[in-house]
Amino acid sequence: MKNALLLLAVLLLAACGSGATDTASGGGEAPAVADAANGETVYLNTCASCHGADALGVDGLGKALAGSSFVADASEADLVALITTGRPSSDPANSTGVDMPPKGGNPSLSEQSIRDVVAYLKTLD
Ligand code: HEC
Repeated sequence: MKNALLLLAVLLLAACGSGATDTASGGGEAPAVADAANGETVYLNTCASCHGADALGVDGLGKALAGSSFVADASEADLVALITTGRPSSDPANSTGVDMPPKGGNPSLSEQSIRDVVAYLKTLD
């Protein structure tokens, strides 16, 4: 009886494990955890035009994000919030006089995509 319960537990764990993998690779449902690889795709599609494909910034557009102490020091939740609302040039925290648009100017960006892009940015510090 004890062994049967143990077997059941192992089977359930295995089922959960494969389910999570299917979700991540299937690309249909959003995975529960932030996915830096997907974040890189989001970055290249939505952010690279201003921040550069290498995330080193573009003069007169976006700031450098790679090696940025701001990105390194901010919590993931703070970065998600900043990216979601942007930082207009009227914001006292704005240092360039150029708008950071909400969601990088892509209103269709999901919260999951934003969490993924934050996970990607955190790999660049
Ligand atoms: C239209 C250009 C533009 C796009 C597109 C854009 N940004 Fe920005 N972003 C900016 C500008 C300009 C700033 C600097 C604002 C300031 O002066 O504080 C900025 C600032 C930031 C900052 C804060 C950096 C710091 O050191 O204060 C982060 C993080 C950031 N952007 C992430 C992103 C992400 C992630 C995307 C894509 C989802 C994105 N941005 C898309 C223009 C852009």
